Amino acid sequence: MIYTKIMGTGSYLPSKVLTNKDLKRYVETSDEWIQSRTGIKERRIVTDEGTTDLAYEASLKAIEDAGVNLEDIDLVVVATVTPDNYFPGVSNLLQSRLGLKEVMTFDINAACSGFLYALNIADKMIKSGAYNTALIVGAETLTRLTDWRDRNTCVLFGDAAGAMVIGKSSENKIKDVICGSRGDVDDLLICENVSIKDPEVNEVGRQDHIHMKGAEVFKFATRILPKTVNDLLERNNMVLDDLDHMVAHQANERIITKAAKDLNYSMDKMFLNIHKYGNTSSASVPLAIDEAIKTKALNKGDKFITVAFGGGLTWGGALIEL
Ligand code: UT7
Repeated sequence: MIYTKIMGTGSYLPSKVLTNKDLKRYVETSDEWIQSRTGIKERRIVTDEGTTDLAYEASLKAIEDAGVNLEDIDLVVVATVTPDNYFPGVSNLLQSRLGLKEVMTFDINAACSGFLYALNIADKMIKSGAYNTALIVGAETLTRLTDWRDRNTCVLFGDAAGAMVIGKSSENKIKDVICGSRGDVDDLLICENVSIKDPEVNEVGRQDHIHMKGAEVFKFATRILPKTVNDLLERNNMVLDDLDHMVAHQANERIITKAAKDLNYSMDKMFLNIHKYGNTSSASVPLAIDEAIKTKALNKGDKFITVAFGGGLTWGGALIEL
């Protein structure tokens, strides 16, 4: 049986800070509304950096933290809904920017659950015996898709990247990863691609923005978070008390609070950094895990569940021992 573990983590944030007060320049809103409804105080936004730039910086830190040689990395998976190009993918560009061997690289899109999907895939690929050491990244420049005239969405999102190196282990540390999706409710949270153009007409396509039915996504999120946690515990014959911490996708502090209440889990053990960064989609989970480790909220030997949900709809969770 091949086991896997987290070898190192890293994250990167663009330096420009956009506060709730700054947003009042674009939409009718208030710091009070945003903080009380979401927990967000400020977020980071890119000015001249792309998703690959953020992914690169986070990856450098994760690789250094893991202490692995570049030539040891034999798989790169990047979760993103905001790649710099339709192609080549962010993962593809990362391979050369980082100076990795000519290994398999691919991007995946599972919206805010993307990092859990990437972890699931890379973990299973290593456990199959075919790969040894994977770099997995969640990187987003969501503010590029933000409609700055829509107060329902523009106050929520931020830009960031988080990275993780995982590899083979003598002990069973990445214990379980599960993911799910349903596509029949795609109108709840969507950003449409440019429409197909008839070459006879050859119009220039216009990029869409993020559209969200917030209250319905909220309902889904508060149902799927506890369910995913309970599914993971049940599959692994564990109970909530066996966990030292939980790291949920940072979409809304109220969603995390409600999930904790429904699970009867202490908010003291729920990691929170949404106030500083907003919802960074697939970067949210690896950014939060990295920050939890670096601030010693998570320590070696700790058992935690990380869980996410997002557009699609999609969801995922992982049970990990550090
Ligand atoms: O990664 C997954 C992605 N998304 C999510 O997880 C989002 C899930 N949903 C949410 O987090 C919440 O639904 C929101 C934060 C998006 C909205 O909070 P809410 O408590 O569900 O507010 P609401 O949409 O029901 O709106 C309440 C009121 C409305 O005014 P009226 O119709 O009651 O007069 C909105 O127009 O608040 C208004 N509103 C705002 N007011 C000030 C909506 N956005 C704003 C705003 N500033 N930014």
